[in-house]
Amino acid sequence: MSMNPLLRRRYRLDETPVPFTLNGTAQTGRRGDTVLTAILSVSGHLRQSEFTGEKRAGFCLIGACQDCYVMTAQGSRVRACSTALLAGMAFITDLGAVSETAHD
Ligand code: FES
Repeated sequence: MSMNPLLRRRYRLDETPVPFTLNGTAQTGRRGDTVLTAILSVSGHLRQSEFTGEKRAGFCLIGACQDCYVMTAQGSRVRACSTALLAGMAFITDLGAVSETAHD
């Protein structure tokens, strides 16, 4: 799993922390983050292609391309670039994490 963040937070460093879970690991975003911003601030990708396993990180960032869909731990999908991060959200961005979750 790539944990080298794609984004580097430079503003709002003192904003209220928002806890979330990424592949079973506790993470912290900031109030006002989108799901995309929060995940890419702690990881290098949003998801892996279902077909090739290629890592994806969104494309348009304005809700038009559908390249940023992220699976929640509950099995639904959210459009990361246009969904506000809420405390307690849990996401799966690695296919390996899905397999491990399926066997729990
Ligand atoms: S990055 Fe294109 S819809 Fe989210």
